[in-house]
Amino acid sequence: MFCNTDICKRCGACVAECPFEVVVPDAQGFPGLRRAARKMCIGCGHCVAVCPVGALTLPELPVTPGLAPADCPPLPASQRLAPERAELFLTSRRSVRTYRPEPLERAVLAGLLAVAAHAPSAHNRQPVRWVVSATPGRTRALAGMVVEHMAARGLFPGIQRHWAAGEDRVLRGAPHVAVATAPLDGLNPAEDCCAAAAYLELAAHARGLGACWAGFLMEAAREHPPLARALGVAPGHGVFAAIMLGKPRFRYRRVPLRRAPLVDWLE
Ligand SMILES: Cc1cc2nc3c(=O)[nH]c(=O)nc-3n(C[C@H](O)[C@H](O)[C@H](O)COP(=O)(O)O)c2cc1C
Repeated sequence: MFCNTDICKRCGACVAECPFEVVVPDAQGFPGLRRAARKMCIGCGHCVAVCPVGALTLPELPVTPGLAPADCPPLPASQRLAPERAELFLTSRRSVRTYRPEPLERAVLAGLLAVAAHAPSAHNRQPVRWVVSATPGRTRALAGMVVEHMAARGLFPGIQRHWAAGEDRVLRGAPHVAVATAPLDGLNPAEDCCAAAAYLELAAHARGLGACWAGFLMEAAREHPPLARALGVAPGHGVFAAIMLGKPRFRYRRVPLRRAPLVDWLE
């Protein structure tokens, strides 16, 4: 960690934020990484994020292509969305099941995945490895393999009939599907993938794009080895989430009602 002692106010916020007491004050009160505990730094960057004067640089932060650890984007207080706007954004997200046929540009897909990289992950391991079908043809071929699996197992005859009639009820005609995989022996691979997938859906929604979980594909990717091979799931990795992506055909006009939250309040 580098601390610019010319501007550091020694406020202690970075020390308080550090999840593993790796950031500690020196004799003058300036923060630094505790030598013995350096290996415990998970590179979460909270020390950098919380510093009110931008005094800290953390080389332990993973470097994004084109950015250095010192290039953490500033967050002006004005960036905060009004709660009503933020809540409407969340409640207006829908699982989009009707897509326009045209593909998304690769840069757009990459941008969505870059946002999803900010999802929480256990120990900040960021273990998710995405497999993305980049063309509608490839996506349709994957859907076809899911239908093959259904046919072999006698599952969902209705979906099979639709497929035979040229209608994809598996990936809903989406031009892309992004499959989240992670090492099976990781800390919380399922949770990490699901969190990233939830971020991906919301990132798509923010751009007016459509997204939907692809549950049938997830199931088949686990049960049908040819599909796992077609996806190129890395050895030792599991498939924990899959999200269809594309441009929605329709605009939603209202928010469908949901059940009130089931809550037990402990007092
Ligand atoms: C794990 C999971 C798997 C899902 N799989 C599918 C799917 O294969 N096809 C589909 O149309 N929707 C799928 N969905 C979306 C749900 O059906 C959807 O979230 C639910 O109907 C509520 O609609 P909303 O997301 O628009 O609020 C899945 C959702 C989750 C969380």
